[in-house]
Amino acid sequence: MIHDQYSRPFLKWPGGKYRLAQRICESLAPGKRLIEPFVGSGAVFLNSRYPKYLLADGNSHLIRLYQTLQAEGEKFIAFCEGFFTPENNNETVYYDMRTVFNETADARLKSALFLYLNRHCYNGLCRYNSRGIFNSPFGRYKQPYFPRHEMQAFHRRATDAVFTSSQYTETLDRARRGDVVYCDPPYIPLSRTASFTDYFAGGFSEQDQIDLARQAARLATRGIHVVISNHNTPFTRELYVDAGATMRRFKVQRNISCRGGERTRVGELLAVFG
Ligand SMILES: C[S@@+](CC[C@H](N)C(=O)[O-])C[C@H]1O[C@@H](n2cnc3c(N)ncnc32)[C@H](O)[C@@H]1O
Repeated sequence: MIHDQYSRPFLKWPGGKYRLAQRICESLAPGKRLIEPFVGSGAVFLNSRYPKYLLADGNSHLIRLYQTLQAEGEKFIAFCEGFFTPENNNETVYYDMRTVFNETADARLKSALFLYLNRHCYNGLCRYNSRGIFNSPFGRYKQPYFPRHEMQAFHRRATDAVFTSSQYTETLDRARRGDVVYCDPPYIPLSRTASFTDYFAGGFSEQDQIDLARQAARLATRGIHVVISNHNTPFTRELYVDAGATMRRFKVQRNISCRGGERTRVGELLAVFG
């Protein structure tokens, strides 16, 4: 299901699956529509071929950005590019832009600023406080890259897609026979002290991981093929085996920030239901 040329997402996204897209796509069955309840940067969407897509995420800022790009294409890309200037690559301006992002009611401006913040903040971190205020710090990059070509490619592909901001449970409720579902929830934390990554206020709990596995198992009994990604840990193995999935495991080099950005080799797992 993967095509010859890999497409890179235009956003930096923690947990993004660009490097794993080929492996993941090979594990997905053919179908009429691919549903992604945790679309993030869209690496699997961009590198697979289905007639239709339902692409959802709990982060409404992310989905609004995709909807704006889908509706406006080049016009919106040009508007976004206007924020990528040397004058705007400055700590004071960054924090001013962040305030505007958090306060504005102008959806188009908010979408463009979401991209500006994503490329100028520290490590593409998408962090919110408990009141839903985006608070990622400035990233100090020499010259943040403007992803024009990646946005154009995304826009071309988006003609076959519906983007929606919703909780994963609601998205899964929309699955019908003939659909294929790829779930990439926030990773399970690797230690008790590590916390779940917050992509928006609310987080994703251990109970969510359990509920997701159960819902996947229920869909499989209705003939819907579901694949879930996660770290390969004793907890995830037990969770998915108990839910009736078959497991595919592989190693991957990832930046897991245990201590000071140290690189650790963590196993990756795909749980296949149905
Ligand atoms: C690991 S990332 C997905 C990465 C994506 N596959 C990619 O390649 O970029 C997890 C995503 O789940 C979303 N998310 C977290 N909790 C959610 C929830 N309860 N419902 C829906 N989406 C949620 C986050 O906003 C984030 O985009």
